[in-house]
Amino acid sequence: MAERPGPGGRDRWPASFRRRQGQQTRAQRRALREHWAHFGVSWTYGQILHVDQLFGRRAPCTLEVGFGMGECILARAQAEPDRNFLGVEVHLPAIGAVCARAAVLGLENLRIVREDVLRLLNDQLAPAAFDQVCVFFPDPFPKRPERRLIRTLFTELIALHGQPGTQLFLATDVQGYAEYAEGVLARDPCFLLQARGERPAFRPVSKYEAKGHAEGRETWELRWGLV
Ligand SMILES: C[S@@+](CC[C@H](N)C(=O)[O-])C[C@H]1O[C@@H](n2cnc3c(N)ncnc32)[C@H](O)[C@@H]1O
Repeated sequence: MAERPGPGGRDRWPASFRRRQGQQTRAQRRALREHWAHFGVSWTYGQILHVDQLFGRRAPCTLEVGFGMGECILARAQAEPDRNFLGVEVHLPAIGAVCARAAVLGLENLRIVREDVLRLLNDQLAPAAFDQVCVFFPDPFPKRPERRLIRTLFTELIALHGQPGTQLFLATDVQGYAEYAEGVLARDPCFLLQARGERPAFRPVSKYEAKGHAEGRETWELRWGLV
């Protein structure tokens, strides 16, 4: 594992997200105060989290990385009550907004982690059996590809937390990112490209995607399967 860290501090790999200040609204702050205990996953140093325990049941589980304002994970958690959804996001205002909406919807099959997904998968989570991993519109970093989320460490961690047949979905509005990701995954013998250009029926148009379309950007879709 080229990037797998030894013991050390937090910045053991280039961050795949921009550190945004982004003011929380009063409603988002209140949602976190009132609903984090239900939807949020808290972690203390040295603890190992077990996915089934987070939900109190065993069920097929989707990991959505960087869910933003949560259009997809919320719609799916509501439409697919027999599936568990673990969302991981670093941006606090987005997490507050999703907690607020999840509480209104009364969702029981959604849990949220506020963390870098690489740290969650590398340090905090026991090998899990996600059968779907979704990455929709990761931050593109056109000039710093080494910061892109889709990298060798990520694919190795997904392989560790998946099972034969696990699907990895990627959507991006940057053609260069789609090509780059195809190259990374093609070098990983655990993954096979299953589809290019097929939009998953479960993915609604997010605010981020709609803005891209309005600005003339296309969406590039890719799907791989774990062998
Ligand atoms: C461009 S937004 C897309 C949001 C949403 N998926 C959508 O389709 O509208 C990318 C999101 O990924 C999150 N993100 C980026 N790197 C991450 C990481 N390593 N772990 C968790 N979240 C991350 C960012 O905070 C941001 O909210």
